[in-house]
Amino acid sequence: MDGSKTIALGAAIRPEWPLDWGKLTVNHGAYGATPRCVLAVQSEWRDRMEAQPSIFMRSILPGALRASADALAAFLNADGQDIAFVDNATTGCNAVLRSLDFGPGDEIVLHGQIYGAVGKTARYVAGRTGARIVEAPLPFPDGDAAAFIEGLAGLLNERTKLVIVDHITSPSAMVLPVQAAARVCRDAGVPLLVDGAHGPGQIEVDIRAIDADWYVGNCHKWLAAPKGCAFLWARRDRQAGLHPTTISHGFKQGFLSEFDWTGTRDATAFLAIEAALAFHEKLGGAALRERNADLAHQAGRLLAAHFGTPYGNEAHPVAMAMVRLPFAGATSAERALALRDRLLDEFGCDAPLIAHPDGIWVRVSAHAYNEIVDYEKLARILDRLIETDRAGA
Ligand SMILES: Cc1ncc(COP(=O)(O)O)c(C=O)c1O
Repeated sequence: MDGSKTIALGAAIRPEWPLDWGKLTVNHGAYGATPRCVLAVQSEWRDRMEAQPSIFMRSILPGALRASADALAAFLNADGQDIAFVDNATTGCNAVLRSLDFGPGDEIVLHGQIYGAVGKTARYVAGRTGARIVEAPLPFPDGDAAAFIEGLAGLLNERTKLVIVDHITSPSAMVLPVQAAARVCRDAGVPLLVDGAHGPGQIEVDIRAIDADWYVGNCHKWLAAPKGCAFLWARRDRQAGLHPTTISHGFKQGFLSEFDWTGTRDATAFLAIEAALAFHEKLGGAALRERNADLAHQAGRLLAAHFGTPYGNEAHPVAMAMVRLPFAGATSAERALALRDRLLDEFGCDAPLIAHPDGIWVRVSAHAYNEIVDYEKLARILDRLIETDRAGA
């Protein structure tokens, strides 16, 4: 069904979400937001679980999980047998990093703009094993895909044991050329983990075409699945020896046995994936993703013109726009966080403020429920935040 022709988006679709519409939410990228119809399906699964937990855990859940994996695989151009569910992208990246054997002198290659928690996990693993972290340069706002790939290729050698590349960077909303990165890694005989936390539902994700060794993705962000819904895809030859961060009964009994049961938990978020995919398609699927990216571009241009500042990721076809803000004074991550808290607490506006070397930037997201007036409103709110910040300085 081509829902984009029949379903009005923006304010018209807001009743589908239980979001507090008294607040301005232009931050879908942070935690996602789940529509009522998907939450209702999750509740139905939870009711079935609580009606008879033993029957559910032993007889219903194993098959239901695999059916969800198959549905997700069809969306990602992958095979369901290669998809395990994890609570979030952080957990998926942890599973890969903590399953590999690193030794003194081995190298783990990351890049500038890497997601903080994943960078910390890599440093933790390196610290315990004597491995070394090497960082491929990725400047923002002037990062360039060809230069990035060239820089990455130049770092790979016989000591490189793992490369991690984000599909879309978190602090700068840049789409990285993961397919080219996979090619370069393959040529060098080095495995590649793609961190696609922001990928599924925001841009097209074609796992077969990317051809990495592992791809981690969130469904709770841009696919609007319930919170705690993510996946780890592993190429067939990378599944042996890959363990979840929680070892349980399935240990050494195969990839899916290990990941499908990690102890008693509420797995209903995974079982709501089909409903989330159906909702995504109902709103237009590829047309929705394109509409959201267009809206983010309009928002980026609007905010940059309003503040007379750069729109940093204009070349990137994503549903998030990065615009520098004219705050006075020094820039630091702590200051950006404090200002972001003020934005939410005093102005009821949810938009991340992110410190980069040249200043504090706002990252605005565009999802189905957003429309251009949201960003006009945001510009006025940011004017007041900037003014009061100057007055208080
Ligand atoms: C690139 C990247 N990796 C990992 C994460 C972590 O996602 P989660 O909190 O779902 O683990 C994020 C979150 O924004 C991200 O952008």
